[in-house]
Amino acid sequence: MPVEPFASLPPYRIKVVEPIPFLDAGQRREAFAAAGYNPFDLRADQITVDLLSDSGTGATSSAQEAGAARGDESYAGARSWFRFRDEVRDLTGFDHVLPVHQGRAAERIVFSTLLGPGRICLSNTHFDTTHANVVLAGAQARDLPCPQALDLDSQEPFKGDIDLAALEQTLTGPDGDRVGLVLMTITNNGLGAQPVSMANLSAVAELCRRHKVPFWLDAARFAENAWLVREREPGYGDWTPRRIATHAFQLADGCMISLKKDGLAPVGGVIALRDPQVYAACEANLIATEGFSTYGGLAGHDLERIAQGLREVVDAGYLGSRAAATERLARLINEAGVDTVQPAGIHALYLNAGRLLTHLEPARFPGHALASELYLRGGIRCAELGSLYLGELDGRHRLVRPAPFELVRLAIPRRVYTDAHLDHVAATLAEIAKEPGRVPGYRIVSAPRLLRHFKVRLEPVAPRAARRGRAAAAR
Ligand code: F0G
Repeated sequence: MPVEPFASLPPYRIKVVEPIPFLDAGQRREAFAAAGYNPFDLRADQITVDLLSDSGTGATSSAQEAGAARGDESYAGARSWFRFRDEVRDLTGFDHVLPVHQGRAAERIVFSTLLGPGRICLSNTHFDTTHANVVLAGAQARDLPCPQALDLDSQEPFKGDIDLAALEQTLTGPDGDRVGLVLMTITNNGLGAQPVSMANLSAVAELCRRHKVPFWLDAARFAENAWLVREREPGYGDWTPRRIATHAFQLADGCMISLKKDGLAPVGGVIALRDPQVYAACEANLIATEGFSTYGGLAGHDLERIAQGLREVVDAGYLGSRAAATERLARLINEAGVDTVQPAGIHALYLNAGRLLTHLEPARFPGHALASELYLRGGIRCAELGSLYLGELDGRHRLVRPAPFELVRLAIPRRVYTDAHLDHVAATLAEIAKEPGRVPGYRIVSAPRLLRHFKVRLEPVAPRAARRGRAAAAR
């Protein structure tokens, strides 16, 4: 007898496992101090639950590994390439497909083709590498998030949408002629993993057509966006996630996809598009910088894993259970007294550290303080999205302009952790939330000028109360 699918039950079981390290509190303190209190400088063998990124960190399936064994490593025209190309064509509806080694390579190639000095790229929110690649192409990146996105507590279903009025105003305004590209990030990783509605994408497509501006998707999490459209947007409840995803792609002129997320693969990316001339320009750049057009910096076995991953990722059972796991974690965290950006997305939860650690001013980096505490108390690695990453510092590393929010991102790798691991995360946060005033702030010891958060070194600053207590004891 067929078994009914259970909405939140993962449609797989575990076949291959990898041990995870358990350090004691003293070892974690030592490891973190040696890393300059920077989570990016920890070693993987010092981490129990790693929520630093959902990128390239997922588990592959037995079918993907079987495909990988079949990988054809011919320099040109490999069988694996044709399987990859056909999957991407079928999913996106775009004829022209170029493989790249990861998302940011696609960004570099597309922006150097469509943008240039003086041009403007408009987006709901550029991801950080996307922003950097727009700037490296000599152009300007402008974010136009919808106003609801800035209310972290609002339950609006599509806080990833672009502000359509601001988009139209820019396209018709004095800078209109300089807009070289409109890029919609689905889901909006820079702003709380919030999805973009089909209504918003359709309106963007219409505006871009009217103003003859190319409209592209940064579709790293296209399947998760499709799932949230199905759950939240009227009219899509009986569509398959795959049909919704294809429909979204077809509203645009092209897309860049980091396949390290919804490609369910450790590495990979793709450019897919309609216009043969833009394709030819991108292809020339690809061959010169990434690899021949039938492998683009990937091995045949990578192409095979991705071709299979693109089928598995749009499975409703998989997406439903993944969304349920993140939602459950959000509920546990919220019940423990820690606020998260609402409503919960799928690939990550964003903790409102500013609201929890009210005793720490932005200059003491409350987001970083909470992320550090999660490591020190629970062996959990994650990173802040707050003033350490986005704030403005002076020459002596002092904060002069804080970020709008002090957030911490808990990114959830795909098919990797069980509810028991996520329970541990919620329990650690609950412990911290009992006495948030004990969490120390941080000061920067040294920092590079560019991409600060990756290489910064910090040190803890004891909370004022503790300092007063120690001073009294010394007297
Ligand atoms: N676009 C978005 C929306 C992303 O989230 C990322 C990567 C990229 C592009 C770049 O892709 O890493 O394959 O070069 N995001 C990762 C993260 C790093 O942790 O969110 P890539």
